[in-house]
Amino acid sequence: MSGLSVIGLQWGDEAKGKLVDLFAADHDIVVRYQGGANAGHTVVVGDKVYKLHHLPSGIVHSHATAIVGPGVVTNPQTILGELESLASQGVSYEGRLWLSDRSHVVMPWHVVEDQLVDRLSGKEDQIGTTMRGIGPCYRDKVGRSHAIRLGDLLRGNFPQRVAEIVKLKNQILRAMDPESSWQPLDAAEITQRYLGYAETLRPMIRETTQWLLDALEAGQRVLFEGAQGALLDIDHGTFPFVTSSNSSGVGVCGGSGVPPRWIDKVVGVVKAYSTRVGGGPMATELDNEIGQRIRERGREYGTTTGRPRRCGYLDLVALRYTARLSGVSSLAVMMLDVLSGFEELKVATAYRIGDTVLDTFPSHADDLKQVTPVYETLPGWPEEITAARTWDDLPVNAQAYVRRIADAVGKPVEWVSVGPDRQQTIHCS
Ligand code: GDP
Ligand code: IMO
Ligand code: MG
Repeated sequence: MSGLSVIGLQWGDEAKGKLVDLFAADHDIVVRYQGGANAGHTVVVGDKVYKLHHLPSGIVHSHATAIVGPGVVTNPQTILGELESLASQGVSYEGRLWLSDRSHVVMPWHVVEDQLVDRLSGKEDQIGTTMRGIGPCYRDKVGRSHAIRLGDLLRGNFPQRVAEIVKLKNQILRAMDPESSWQPLDAAEITQRYLGYAETLRPMIRETTQWLLDALEAGQRVLFEGAQGALLDIDHGTFPFVTSSNSSGVGVCGGSGVPPRWIDKVVGVVKAYSTRVGGGPMATELDNEIGQRIRERGREYGTTTGRPRRCGYLDLVALRYTARLSGVSSLAVMMLDVLSGFEELKVATAYRIGDTVLDTFPSHADDLKQVTPVYETLPGWPEEITAARTWDDLPVNAQAYVRRIADAVGKPVEWVSVGPDRQQTIHCS
């Protein structure tokens, strides 16, 4: 086995961090390849809790090399903060963390733009971003002429680049918000600050694409850690209520520089119910007592922004779509313990729009907004299951719920998670 990728199949927060931590034990290298500090991945080991936004969760394992790949939008300040926090938790990363010199840098103007665009949008159109400057940074990457890559911070003309871009950005921001609720950008201050970050990060900044290909050719095992989830994919998700990268399985190759032939397994991560943070349609949302109960039992508050997550029943129409899109080999069903105590559970098996019944996922957010889910009702289970360690420890109704997911997707469920800790994991096959 060379490459294993872990992909969230919903709207993020499927507990990818927990799974990546488990798999990292058997891998030499762990790679983040898209997104940036909008992610929030949690790893729980005994009484230690690690919250990672930018660096691969696998960094917690001292044997693993961690890579922040070319497709990530990198925030040097966040990385330094995270390294400090890891060091305070006893994780040393010396000589085993590489940041791609090709990754694009989130600059202060990107964060200001993120805030302004969201504030100036009508309520209906608000994406509700994490305000980490992700979209504006990717916009400048695709636009090319005003982009800064991590390697640029180490080059002599960096101050000049910043001066040119700041001049233009101040004009754009002023045009967007003539009321000037933002402070004009100061090129000299930004340059000095970023040169300071660059000096500390210099030993970690390097070419990673060919390095990774060399490692694969030498037989090293590589784990690809997806951020966000497939329904937030810029091309295939619920556009425009998505993130700005390919967060489904199709993004692994572009973001890391590793071609498909090296990826021999894809684990699709499924939360046993649905959650979403921010705006956009969510067919199975429960804006009621049941949704509130799921939120409280699952502690569904954002790891990055602390926002309450919208909660709802599992959507098998969406899941079938994202599992195919991501090319999953098997599934991991997470947070099954959260569903204990419900008398019955519903899962959406189709959508209805007017007289039409759909079993495919609409490509337009307005159509998704119109659908009414067609539900199948499954019996719940009263028992708490956080102590279950084998398939046979699960109540029969919990087993039936998991089997229903496997049937709908047509792929085996290989893992079931019944709590945040590494130990609270069932390997099914
Ligand atoms: P990620 O973004 O996909 O890595 O997921 P998050 O870390 O944002 O959110 C998942 C949350 O659920 C974290 O607080 C985890 O510690 C926690 N968690 C992981 N697996 C389980 C589980 O099986 N049951 C419960 N109750 N919590 C879990
Ligand atoms: P992890 O990796 C859940 C959501 C935001 C917003 C939309 C766009 O922890 O699963 P952005 O800041 O990316 O431009 O915001 O995407 N979003 C996430 N939701 N989990 C995440 O990451 C997310 N990253 C972004 O809430 O709706
Ligand atoms: Mg998260």
